[in-house]
Amino acid sequence: MTAIAMMEPPEPKAAAAPPMRLRRPVVLVGLMGAGKTSVGKRLAGLLGANFTDSDHEIVEAAGMSIPEIFATLGEAAFRDGERRVIARLLTERAGVLATGGGAFIEPRTRAEIKARATSIWLRADLDLLWDRVRDRPGRPLLQTPNPRETLADLLDRRYPVYAEADVTVDSRRGASQEAMARAIVAAVRAHDLAHPDAPPTLEPAP
Ligand code: S3P
Repeated sequence: MTAIAMMEPPEPKAAAAPPMRLRRPVVLVGLMGAGKTSVGKRLAGLLGANFTDSDHEIVEAAGMSIPEIFATLGEAAFRDGERRVIARLLTERAGVLATGGGAFIEPRTRAEIKARATSIWLRADLDLLWDRVRDRPGRPLLQTPNPRETLADLLDRRYPVYAEADVTVDSRRGASQEAMARAIVAAVRAHDLAHPDAPPTLEPAP
């Protein structure tokens, strides 16, 4: 590093955004590995809101793991349980809800989310998703001879549907969960301001 570079002043810090709280549920959608659960927890912390993960709720209700539900009851039963769990969670309280990757793809579940919540698509590219899911078992849809290709196929089929979410936020390699959560708050705030006739998702915290 040259002396001149060393003498350069530090980057000015961005002005801190005012604290916000939720008025309407926020639902995170996107493919496996997008970070819905980890970023969702951080987002809930930032907003002082409850966090729920629909997969976790389904597992609790069924008393079985997701691979067990798929193997013994089948995917259709899983989707039905997923829809009922999400509908219940969205009527119970405003909070942050992370959903399994297929939830928003189901038309009835998507309609439920659109009616009651603000949906956020955590978009990520295939390489990033694959890096995050490749060594993690427990995802029945990826138990195929070529799981990377299966993920690529899901991406092709599902991305046009996720694009129907109210807000899209890109999940970038190396971005911290905190940075992602803050990017979501900023994007939701911008969405609220752009839709003044719709019920706002966020309001300033007292
Ligand atoms: C699924 C994604 C999983 C889980 C189930 C089906 C999907 O959740 O709901 O294995 O259809 O994409 P994550 O997205 O949290 O991995």
